[in-house]
Amino acid sequence: MEVLAHAKLNLTLDVLGKRPDGYHDLRMIMQSVALADALTLKENGSGEVRVSTNLHFLPNNEKNLAAQAALRWWEARGQTPRGLDITIEKRVPVCAGMAGGSSDAAAVLRALNRAEGEPLSPPDLAKIGERVGSDVPYCVIGGTALAEGRGEVLTPLPSLPRCWVVLCKPEFSISTPALFAKIDSVRLRCRPDTQGAVAALGAGDLAGVARRMYNVFEDALPERQHARVNDLKNVLIQCGALGASMSGTGPTAFGLFDDESCAQQARERLSDFGGEVFLTYTV
Ligand code: C5P
Repeated sequence: MEVLAHAKLNLTLDVLGKRPDGYHDLRMIMQSVALADALTLKENGSGEVRVSTNLHFLPNNEKNLAAQAALRWWEARGQTPRGLDITIEKRVPVCAGMAGGSSDAAAVLRALNRAEGEPLSPPDLAKIGERVGSDVPYCVIGGTALAEGRGEVLTPLPSLPRCWVVLCKPEFSISTPALFAKIDSVRLRCRPDTQGAVAALGAGDLAGVARRMYNVFEDALPERQHARVNDLKNVLIQCGALGASMSGTGPTAFGLFDDESCAQQARERLSDFGGEVFLTYTV
């Protein structure tokens, strides 16, 4: 079976506080983009889950979130693991704040559910995904959604009006647990207007959403990395983006465009900065 695993962006991301279980309560608007990994799944009858990808440094065993999702699926269905070969063509940048690994896991859950004739609903699949990672429930559902709690409390929102997205993943990576730990001691200077962004979505107001985009993790980045993300955002805005922000715990910066030629110009300019640059669109 073949299935796509779309990347996500955070249109807004707010951290509300630390929870007794060590996680953080979040409020964020998530958005899927067309950029996606391509997965192929084949039963192998061995009882083992094997993963192969075009990126040699990614785990090829049960440490890979895609493999964990398959194991959680059989566990939830009360079945013995039948064994699976999962091939992933990674196109979404890794360690980028775009939920690439979580999206692969969600794609495996959707594919296995489809193979068995859709016995489970998307919310049931999201519940299984919760045990694999905080972003997996959203990735099961996709589209435009408000995510709260650990990320698993989902409210579908009116779709963001279709637009072009230019994104750039700089060549450095950020440790998600380290940035979450740091955010507890950072005085947040600015918070996103998530409520305003939800209202703008309801009104189909792309520019209204774009100008409210903000991610509190930007303030928790180390100084040099913060400066780099700001530079990328400035280029996006100079090229005509309606708004620019960072996704997840970064370091990917992205901008929303209603004009394709402006988006193409932004892609060209950002290519001079190094890193991985993509022009895609919302789905
Ligand atoms: O759930 P997931 O394994 O993707 O989370 C990775 C790490 O991110 C957690 O171990 C935790 O440090 C942090 N995290 C958090 N609060 C969340 C989601 C993730 O503190 N809501």
